[in-house]
Amino acid sequence: MEVIFKIIRQEQNSAPVVQTYLVEAESGNTILDCLNRIKWEQDGTLAFRKNCRNTICGSCAMRINGRSALACKENVGSELARLKQIAATTNRANSIPEITIAPLGNMPVIKDLVVNMSSFWNNLEAVAPYVSTKARLVPEREFLQSPQERSRLDQTGNCIMCGACYSECNAREVNPDFVGPHALAKAYRMVADSRDSDTENRLQSYNEGTKGVWGCTRCLYCDSVCPMDVAPLEQITKIKQEILANKQLVDETRSIRHRKVLVDLVKEGGWIDERQFGLQVVGNYFKDLRGLLSLAPLGLRMIIRGKFPLSFEPSEGTQQVRSLIESVQQQGTGD
Ligand code: SF4
Ligand code: SF4
Ligand code: FES
Repeated sequence: MEVIFKIIRQEQNSAPVVQTYLVEAESGNTILDCLNRIKWEQDGTLAFRKNCRNTICGSCAMRINGRSALACKENVGSELARLKQIAATTNRANSIPEITIAPLGNMPVIKDLVVNMSSFWNNLEAVAPYVSTKARLVPEREFLQSPQERSRLDQTGNCIMCGACYSECNAREVNPDFVGPHALAKAYRMVADSRDSDTENRLQSYNEGTKGVWGCTRCLYCDSVCPMDVAPLEQITKIKQEILANKQLVDETRSIRHRKVLVDLVKEGGWIDERQFGLQVVGNYFKDLRGLLSLAPLGLRMIIRGKFPLSFEPSEGTQQVRSLIESVQQQGTGD
């Protein structure tokens, strides 16, 4: 069958252009097969990364019909079927089907489908993705792990560093400090590794501000695009659980206080008493003087504009809201 490939091409620091190529393809041909054919038979200037052609090296990630995926894993038939399913396709009956290819997101384009992955690698480095060398100082014999201990590393160990999750990450798009799903999946691999002796420091670092686990908006995109089922969001959630089980970190962390105070206040009044919220979260229950002072300009502006709530009326549905929260908490799923 004939398929039109619409490829978003770009030179560094210039505007992208769409270039179309007509390819004679079979349904089972991978997207990478088709790109190779374009490059070898029609246009040698088209740039893209590839290596193993077998879902191993992670080189060929790109956006295929708007979703980050491996070009050597997805094939023409499944892509066209997916397009049909989402109905938003511009493909019309009896017309030549189209597949759109674009570079990964959240990383600047070097040329065509090749992006600069420096931030991806730097963010991986930032989570110290190596088993702590301190533990290696123990001499005499290698570190043994039971099959159960090893199995905790299986899922995250499957990551091939393709960048698909990073490309789709909403948090990364708006927050340049956030290290990204690939890095946090690797971070959990370290936390879960029985040979690592640095868990306490790791949790402290992954807990900081919005660069670590609290920067994630839980949009689930990383889990949905990962070609290796690493499920980065699940790993982020596991790190959060480890942090929440650590009393010292819980007391110190504003992000955790934010969640706790929010639930407590809604439970108490059915909705949030904003005056209490700022004082308890930012002012850490009057213990954080600097935090309290930082609220002063906002408070003042609100008073001047007549927007400062002088009193608080509990919501009419407080009782219902409270029993809902309590029943969730009793089931042990509330955090
Ligand atoms: S769930 Fe979190 S880490 Fe994953 S893509 Fe969304 S914001 Fe990024
Ligand atoms: S977690 Fe999945 S999507 Fe992200 S880099 Fe690893 S293999 Fe790719
Ligand atoms: S070429 Fe290696 S994963 Fe696609």
